[in-house]
Amino acid sequence: MMRKLLPALFVALAVVSCGRKASQSKLPNYPKVDSLMKVMTLEEKIGQTVLFTSDWSVTGPSMRPGYLDDIRAGRCGNLLNAHTADFTREVQRIAVEETRLGIPILFGFDVIHGFRTIFPINLGMSASWDIDAIRRSAQIAAEEAAAAGLQWTYSPMCDISVEPRWGRISEGSGEDPYLGSLIAAAMVEGYQGDDLSKDNTILACVKHFAAYGAPQAGRDYNTVDMSERWLREFYLPPYKAAVDAGALSVMASFNELDGVPAHASAHLMQDILRGEWGFEGFVVSDYTGIMEMIHHGYAKDLADAGRLSINAGLDMDMMAASYMNHMKELVESGRVSMKTVDDACRRILNVKAALGLFDDPYKYCDTEREKERTLTDENKAFARRFSAESMVLLKNNGILPLKKGEKVAVMGPLANSKDDLLGSWRGAGEVKSVPASVLDAVKEVTPVGDGASKVILVIGEPWSWTGEAASRSSIKVPEEQIALLRQLKKQGKKVAVVLMNGRPLDLSEESELADAILEAWYPGTMGGYAVADVLFGDVNPSGKLTVTFPRNLGQVPIYHYAKNTGRPYVHPEAKYESRYLDVPNEPLYAFGHGLSYTTFGYSDITLDKTSFKGADVLKARVTVTNTGDREGTETVQMYIRDLVGSVTRPVRQLKGFERITLAPGESREVEFTIDRETLSFYRQDMTWGAESGDFDIFIGTASNCTKNASFTYEI
Ligand code: BGC
Repeated sequence: MMRKLLPALFVALAVVSCGRKASQSKLPNYPKVDSLMKVMTLEEKIGQTVLFTSDWSVTGPSMRPGYLDDIRAGRCGNLLNAHTADFTREVQRIAVEETRLGIPILFGFDVIHGFRTIFPINLGMSASWDIDAIRRSAQIAAEEAAAAGLQWTYSPMCDISVEPRWGRISEGSGEDPYLGSLIAAAMVEGYQGDDLSKDNTILACVKHFAAYGAPQAGRDYNTVDMSERWLREFYLPPYKAAVDAGALSVMASFNELDGVPAHASAHLMQDILRGEWGFEGFVVSDYTGIMEMIHHGYAKDLADAGRLSINAGLDMDMMAASYMNHMKELVESGRVSMKTVDDACRRILNVKAALGLFDDPYKYCDTEREKERTLTDENKAFARRFSAESMVLLKNNGILPLKKGEKVAVMGPLANSKDDLLGSWRGAGEVKSVPASVLDAVKEVTPVGDGASKVILVIGEPWSWTGEAASRSSIKVPEEQIALLRQLKKQGKKVAVVLMNGRPLDLSEESELADAILEAWYPGTMGGYAVADVLFGDVNPSGKLTVTFPRNLGQVPIYHYAKNTGRPYVHPEAKYESRYLDVPNEPLYAFGHGLSYTTFGYSDITLDKTSFKGADVLKARVTVTNTGDREGTETVQMYIRDLVGSVTRPVRQLKGFERITLAPGESREVEFTIDRETLSFYRQDMTWGAESGDFDIFIGTASNCTKNASFTYEI
């Protein structure tokens, strides 16, 4: 009953719920699409809703037997994984010259953190908190990919996650919806630019819609269930931000939500995405996602699955061959209306038109540009800087930065690995393009040999332990690596641990033993050099965690926007308060934590008023001073707590931040503006808005900062 009522309820609320911006992605009417729609047969329309993969053989991309015939016959209008200018040009030629209507193919690929020049994994990128750099990385990725025949990337991955066991937490931007939204929008802007039809911009795909980052027990593809309120407040904002930024495709997620697989969720695809957000692009399934509804126990066979998906608003079938093989019979038997197929086909053709494919289907396949624009010195120099920016100094007792010229030992299973630097979903990135491992890079700046009293120990997870289908039930560094650290400390060495990994880890022992810990994630093509840049002080680290690092797996889920509970833990010896008997409630490293080689002092917070009303704004200011002896960059963070709400509110929520670079001794005032939108949330009646009441504001270096002030707001 409730399920039946909900969609209607939310459509009604759409009008009032979002004082939030509606989608900017208004598509014009394309006469070419109109004229095609008039002459296309049902089979040809269905063909535009089909997406198949190409393969890769030793010599380069290749096509499965039969797929070229499908393209020729107009049965398959889109391809994924095919790239390189030469190969896509030839396949495009077949589509344009050998099919009845000559509709160009749309070529898609997972360009996730770079195409050939690989940037840090997305969790690492997010730790830079540098929105401009993130946008620039997407722009470079688009330029490289577009020159290799691609027009479509399956990115940005907008899945909020507080689940470190889940391997795909590495592909997202962490736990926070506010930061995640800024990043999602910046990536769309970077990929799509200001004109999708340019030869150096590509179509973004917002994925995985929705809430894929919350699988039960952290096991990939597992059941997701959460309240509509939690979904809307903490999980949906980044997808929406990406849609608002103009993304014209969205990918459904593998999980079910509230008992309905996302691939058949009209609530997600029709009510929310199209109804409330005004999305005008097309929705694609995930890989065989339509077929998987049979295993979910939601569809009885592949035809049934196709019917459920397309009727719920899913336009394109990736790899399930349900639409290809069953859509005709579904339409002819009346189980799917012609209009539904028309709508799906038109949305896809509109996007092809927006990409300029009807004007010049070959503009994305340019061998010259592919050579010129790929892995350029400029791209690599940017990657090196960005990579260093993504690294988070978790601990430092003074051992870092190391001195050039002083002998060090470099050890650990990841020290000499170029492969691991690239991480998972490395696009078309190749190990042969990686100029240096960490060991190689360190050797270029200082003598390396065993017997040195200082050790750089590069440990963590091999890259294949992260990404898709790479969930772990332990979040520890493998035991033999910790044993090596123990042994080195027994020998009296000073040890700087460099971590490569794609999830929050339990570092309880390492944090005790190591003299310093640098979280390097999987830092990409130039990652070896970037690690050395930070270790030897050419770059002062400035990254901040975008996911909470727990003390152990038992604390999971742990995140900074937790609620207070009815029995918050405040008395050290109390039993009947919300606490553990064996570990503190606090995480090992809080969201927002990250050290520098300099130090920053914060003044008290000053407010321009202590109460404000309606559409008025409040200004909160702090003065931040570089109290150390070298230049450094600090991300100043602002959190809000709404003390009493019509529904309970988190004890802290990130609501603003600013990255500032200060010379030694320099001070700067940082100002945050708080308005009604800053204080808004889904109130008890599920409308979006603020409530009158008292608020606390916290400004500081991490989510556990203590400087605070109070104000009241009246609606
Ligand atoms: C992943 C998607 C990806 C798709 C195409 C799926 O397995 O879940 O994120 O875009 O494959 O490669």
